[in-house]
Amino acid sequence: GIKIATIGGGSSYTPELMEGFIKRYEELPIREIWLVDIEAGKEKLEIVGAMAKRMWEASPYEVEVHLTLDREEALKDADFVTTQFRVGLLDARVKDERIPAYYGMIGQETNGAGGIFKAFRTIPVILDIVEDMKRLCPEAWLINFTNPAGMVTEAIVRYGKWEKVMGLCNVPVGAMMMEPKLLETTLDQLVYKFAGLNHFHWHRVADADGNDVTMKIIDKMYSEDAGLPANIFDIPFFKEQLEQMKAIPCGYHRYYYREQEMLAHALEEYETIGTRAQQVKETEAELFDLYKDVNLDHKPEQLAKRGGAHYSDAACETIASIYANKNTHIVVSTKNNGAVPDLPADCVVEVSAFVGAAGALPIAFGSLQAAERGWLQVMKNMELVTIEAAITGDYGLALQAFTINPLVTSGETAKQILDELLIAHKEFLPNF
Ligand code: NAD
Ligand code: G6P
Ligand code: MN
Repeated sequence: GIKIATIGGGSSYTPELMEGFIKRYEELPIREIWLVDIEAGKEKLEIVGAMAKRMWEASPYEVEVHLTLDREEALKDADFVTTQFRVGLLDARVKDERIPAYYGMIGQETNGAGGIFKAFRTIPVILDIVEDMKRLCPEAWLINFTNPAGMVTEAIVRYGKWEKVMGLCNVPVGAMMMEPKLLETTLDQLVYKFAGLNHFHWHRVADADGNDVTMKIIDKMYSEDAGLPANIFDIPFFKEQLEQMKAIPCGYHRYYYREQEMLAHALEEYETIGTRAQQVKETEAELFDLYKDVNLDHKPEQLAKRGGAHYSDAACETIASIYANKNTHIVVSTKNNGAVPDLPADCVVEVSAFVGAAGALPIAFGSLQAAERGWLQVMKNMELVTIEAAITGDYGLALQAFTINPLVTSGETAKQILDELLIAHKEFLPNF
């Protein structure tokens, strides 16, 4: 039987994951699921864990769900380890969003100064987990959802020296759910190709006759729902820019292509309804109230208010594809190996791949045009500098990461933001 260990099991997304496994039980016969959390997440773990148990009891399948604060016990002989933890919980995210915004810069979960600090907090923890895996489950696959998912996956490969890892994100899933509807067709009639980095990729689409339909989708994007995650403000891209690009940017590209407007919108929202983390706290409280209901045994609708909705489709499909060697097309963060020739072969990219028993086989995308190539190279190197800073705790490198990040302007203010975030997050920054 298959053993799954989920780190950060107390997440409100756990019912999604259970739903995905229940749906795929016939091809992925799981025996045990271990939901792991830490003392600070104990109450959440108990509530959502009880909900997970009810979901399996309501299914035709016999699966044991274990709840534990003992990571070693959970990892021992696991076949798949999934990670969905948040170091410092939502309070840390509030600081990532608020502090840069106070100084007039974008504060966001995975972008700008906030994204850099989420990496600083998370990378030491993930590297510890990898060391545990080397002892306790050296054959396991690591399926990472923890943000910033691209940088976390890069750190696992480059510094953890762990190759059996895939990073996942629901953004490509959302695009592939909604865009076929815009064209009044179905996903199986379209050919998708994604390339770039996590929260910084582009994609192109062809139809069943091989004709490129990317521009048709772009046209429709201006009048219909194109599958943008709930957490991203929907300001349109400049049409002329997309016509030149001939590719569909991901939702998060708005922070870079419409930085001014995204910042203005964020500042206004922070003063009225609060930062995204504050909004998510409310949604989370609502969700946990529902999970406490002993009669609830299926995923509630309200989970769709979270930006990560439908992520289980990516996680469970990836695991099922590896286990049953399905070679499914999935967009994953994995080693480039030449698929994106504008970036080194040994770095992690987010790319269309065929996923099966041998892991992810990335599909060659080919070179990007100069504008996209420039962005990509800056962003990948910003990631590499950030990761090295997270590991060494080198203040100069942290400042370099800030300076090279397109959403942080350089100078005294940037240094001030860095210093404040270092103090605000002190307890979660063991290397600094
Ligand atoms: P959350 O705040 O509910 O945290 C999940 C759990 O992690 C909590 O119960 C917490 O106690 C636990 N945790 C914290 N530190 C831990 C540690 N060291 N070991 C084990 N558990 C620990 O978070 P969430 O909103 O469910 O999101 C979880 C993570 O998934 C975040 O990093 C988030 O950014 C990410 N996420 C990624 C995607 C994606 O597209 N890749 C989508 C949604 C969420
Ligand atoms: C997105 C992303 C995730 C991100 C999340 C935020 O769509 O793909 O990586 O963490 O949603 O959602 P939230 O509801 O926490 O703001
Ligand atoms: Mn994501």
